[in-house]
Amino acid sequence: MTDELIAPHGGSLVNQLAEGAEAQKLAELAKGLPQLKLSIRPLSDIEMLAVGAFSPQTGFMTRADYQSVVKDMHLAGGLPWSLPVTISASRDEARSFEGKQVALANEDGENIAVMDVAEAYDYDKKEEARLVYRTEEETHPGVAAVYAQGEMLLGGPVRVFNRQKHSEFLDHRRDPKEARAALAERGWKTVVGFQTRNPVHRAHEYIQKCAMETVDGLLLHPLVGATKGDDIPADVRMACYQALIKDYYPANRVLLSVFPAAMRYAGPREAVFHALVRKNYGCSHFIVGRDHAGVGSYYGTYDAQQIFRQFTPQELGITPMFFDNSFFCRDCDAMGTAKTCPHGEESRVSLSGTRVREMLVAGEEPPPEFSRPAVARILIDSYRGR
Ligand code: ADX
Repeated sequence: MTDELIAPHGGSLVNQLAEGAEAQKLAELAKGLPQLKLSIRPLSDIEMLAVGAFSPQTGFMTRADYQSVVKDMHLAGGLPWSLPVTISASRDEARSFEGKQVALANEDGENIAVMDVAEAYDYDKKEEARLVYRTEEETHPGVAAVYAQGEMLLGGPVRVFNRQKHSEFLDHRRDPKEARAALAERGWKTVVGFQTRNPVHRAHEYIQKCAMETVDGLLLHPLVGATKGDDIPADVRMACYQALIKDYYPANRVLLSVFPAAMRYAGPREAVFHALVRKNYGCSHFIVGRDHAGVGSYYGTYDAQQIFRQFTPQELGITPMFFDNSFFCRDCDAMGTAKTCPHGEESRVSLSGTRVREMLVAGEEPPPEFSRPAVARILIDSYRGR
């Protein structure tokens, strides 16, 4: 191990955020360009691209990158990348944009970036669904989003001059550059990243702490971009994390920061994407537990771990840390997994997501072996408030 944090994917952090005079110039230029309004996912992708979270990429994928990523999980240049980063338009619009500059706008029609549209190209939505999401069913939220896109994709670099203004989690917003500075300031070299879109239960805490035993620190990185409607809102999840850290984590070994990406629910492919992006935030290690980024029963419990075998450790750079399904065992009187606990199902405190939701809605705290009471109370209050 060197005395530095891990290098970003591809070697250096990309910065596509224009500031000062350049930003002003781009804002002026954008006024005279054709405008393309973006929906919520490409909007969060733009933010990720601007700050280098998607390094080495500087814009939306061209055909060569898109096809190579969809079919082979590598960018055309050979680096691993598992999910398309794309924007779409109608056929007429796309044809008129090709080879030109376009102003990208937010949902209110405010210009935010200028894109050099190097290419407009056809793509096969069903193929993307099948290869990336492993299903063509529209009931899969990620697949539904692909099917709802325009008929053609646009590829080319973006320069962002008007970054989205956030009002939430300001104390916990750190771009990759800032996250790296915060990790370095703590003197950490090995850092394990934890992705989450759900409230934190004892199982999450257990796998985080197992990982923390072997590295310098934990980057708790809850996703706060778009999620599906029935996921718990980010502010509630953040309150749970803050309560948990206050009483159960050594403050000098954990950094809580938000991850502004949108959820795709692509299971295995998204686990690889989550790991590579966390490398850009300075993580040397990344936790992948059971059914990572899964939805419904589209993926096998450990598919998101097995997919990592398709890459060499050298090309990934970041080291995945795999954990089996974790639970509290009454006979062990401890948390564990089938790897460490000899007892059967009957000894385990395990509750389905649906059962936990029913209990919380009814104002009932799940057993403390499943959720810390402080966390359960926050969740109950949030269900009451809705
Ligand atoms: S996810 O969509 O972000 O993966 P979630 O927030 O539930 O959903 O999971 C965060 C991480 O914890 C993922 O790596 C997931 O695999 C892992 N995980 C969640 N619950 C368990 C569990 N009971 N046992 C082991 N790993 C788990």
